Amino acid sequence: MSTEPPDGGTLSNLLKEDRRFEPPAELAEHANLKQEAYERAASDREAFWAEQAERLSWDQTWDRVLDWDDPPFAKWFVGGRLNASYNCVDRHVEAGRGDKVAFHFVGEPVGDTRDITYAELKDLVSQAANALTDLGVQTGDRVAIYMPMIPEAVVAMLACARIGAPHTVVFGGFSSDALASRLEDCQAKVVVTADGGYRRGSASALKPAVDEAVVKAAELGHTVDKVLVVRRTGQDVTWNDDLDVWWHDAVESASTEHAPEAFDSEHPLYVMYTSGTTGKPKGILHTTGGYLTGAAYTHWAVFDLKPDDVYWCTADIGWVTGHSYIVYGPLANGVTQVLYEGTPDSPERGRWWDVIEQHGVTLFYTAPTAIRSFMKQGREIPDQRDLSSLRLLGSVGEPINPEAYVWYRHVIGGDRTPVVDTWWQTETGMIMISPLPGVTHGKPGSAMIPIPGIAADVVDDDGKSVPDGSGGYLVLTEPWPAMLRTIWGDDERYKDTYWSRYPATEDRGAWYFAGDGAKKDTDGDLWVLGRVDDVMNVSGHRLSTTEIESALVSHPKVAEAAVVGAKDEDTGPAVCAFVILRDEAGDGGADIVEELRNHVRKQIGPIAKPRQIMIVPELPKTRSGKIMRRLLKDVAEHREVGDVTTLADSSVMDLISQGVDSGKDEA
Ligand code: WT7
Repeated sequence: MSTEPPDGGTLSNLLKEDRRFEPPAELAEHANLKQEAYERAASDREAFWAEQAERLSWDQTWDRVLDWDDPPFAKWFVGGRLNASYNCVDRHVEAGRGDKVAFHFVGEPVGDTRDITYAELKDLVSQAANALTDLGVQTGDRVAIYMPMIPEAVVAMLACARIGAPHTVVFGGFSSDALASRLEDCQAKVVVTADGGYRRGSASALKPAVDEAVVKAAELGHTVDKVLVVRRTGQDVTWNDDLDVWWHDAVESASTEHAPEAFDSEHPLYVMYTSGTTGKPKGILHTTGGYLTGAAYTHWAVFDLKPDDVYWCTADIGWVTGHSYIVYGPLANGVTQVLYEGTPDSPERGRWWDVIEQHGVTLFYTAPTAIRSFMKQGREIPDQRDLSSLRLLGSVGEPINPEAYVWYRHVIGGDRTPVVDTWWQTETGMIMISPLPGVTHGKPGSAMIPIPGIAADVVDDDGKSVPDGSGGYLVLTEPWPAMLRTIWGDDERYKDTYWSRYPATEDRGAWYFAGDGAKKDTDGDLWVLGRVDDVMNVSGHRLSTTEIESALVSHPKVAEAAVVGAKDEDTGPAVCAFVILRDEAGDGGADIVEELRNHVRKQIGPIAKPRQIMIVPELPKTRSGKIMRRLLKDVAEHREVGDVTTLADSSVMDLISQGVDSGKDEA
């Protein structure tokens, strides 16, 4: 590891944040979890997790809560048996809640809506389970799912879980190459897909990418048996009778009777691929009992879930957020939720707020990147809708800048709603660090402290806990039920990637190193700064890109900012910033660059003053909304821009180059 921990002592823009928001009295009074849960969980962690596992229905209870005899290979609820699909669907019907709506599906074309009750979901999942079995899928076989955000995607996941066939959902925006390498890596027997989905007002094809991926997988030596295709858009598809099967032929004709089998608590539930800094994507393996316990518990605790809530998570099921907080957590809890197919701004920019108004959404979970793009559009758009049903807002995916947090709370939440900034990862499977909305006061920009049951710390290079007011590496010091079990097919890489940095010592077990830097403020609350590879060292001072970005976004003319450390002969890395202005700021005025540089200087200190600020129309982002700083670094260092294939919109780099060429930068 070449980077050093961010040093909280010198630069503390984020720590100057002193706005505080108390939990609403009513929410605090009836909160699912109260202060005592922290102490209870800490005094007997395993008993606490056993209590959380009780919220599921087990066919056989466990003999042992945790087996950590062979770290880092954990087993949770050892000897227990359960079926995840039964827990997410059947048991709610058996409890008399079959008529409760599971999904208000909202297709992107206006008016294309469909409500699905738990009883209907049970029939659909049973049919799909029977159809997959008829196609030859057996317990333990892997099934790939490459679909738009339509109910059949959720049905396919639950059907796999029902028959014990681990699924691997590949985000529908990924290329055929990415799909092929995942098909090959996990040796998927069947692919479930659709002809296409609706995106930005038109039908966007998926099947051609599957056709190509099947050929490419074969070239890599792996043969896919069957491709099950949902007809969503009705667009033309190339058809191979030996391989392709229509969903409406195979599933809709199948029986709605299907007895779910109980599987071992450690039976693989799914593999989710996530990119590392180098090498091929890592197949993160999640198993059944512990994962479902963690997802259900956190969804209940962090969102303070109540029976009448209408919940909406805007993530795609192609990401872990969709797995834990659309499918497994919410459905295990029997919630009513919105499932939305499209983009926030189709057919127009108020679409999301319309959905909230129409369905009376009470709990809303989205990403900072979306919040900042709404900030950029201005408050007039959400102000035209009635958002008074909302009672709690969540954020996930990257650090949320204090300004975005306050805007979210104020404009979307009408100042009534707590904002929970939830820190977790594909690997953790569940929310780890977050306020509890009825207990913790909100601090804009801070994910606060680990939730009850979770143990984390911020440590230095030697594994020493840093004092309050300092920064370092974020580590998880105790195993947790939804933790990844390994990297699919690569135990060694699992050990190396996550557990080699802080191996067990005489005094303690091994720690999981999350790859993120974090600070403890003077109250001991945590500020996640992002990946340590986003931390730079400027003239001997450690600066987090997030910290400078936050300072920039706190300027009234700035909508979004990305900061990179670019090589400089004199100083080592120099701060380079790429800034998107708010619409109402126009071109920002002649002195905008100097104005912003001075603003950063004032907010953080001279050391953080960017050497260069480029006003750009867009930032390069991956499909999950993460800024690709590597590409910005190429621009800042005057190199040819590298591989752009994982960008959501590959034309963005052209726009940026034009912006840079038009002379808005200053050296
Ligand atoms: C990385 C994990 C969590 C599901 C979606 C992303 C960053 C995530 C926060 C947050 C600061 C955050 C971290 C983490 N991250 N949430 N609330 N505050 N940073 O899952 O793709 O596995 O990414 O996202 O850097 O390590 P992922």
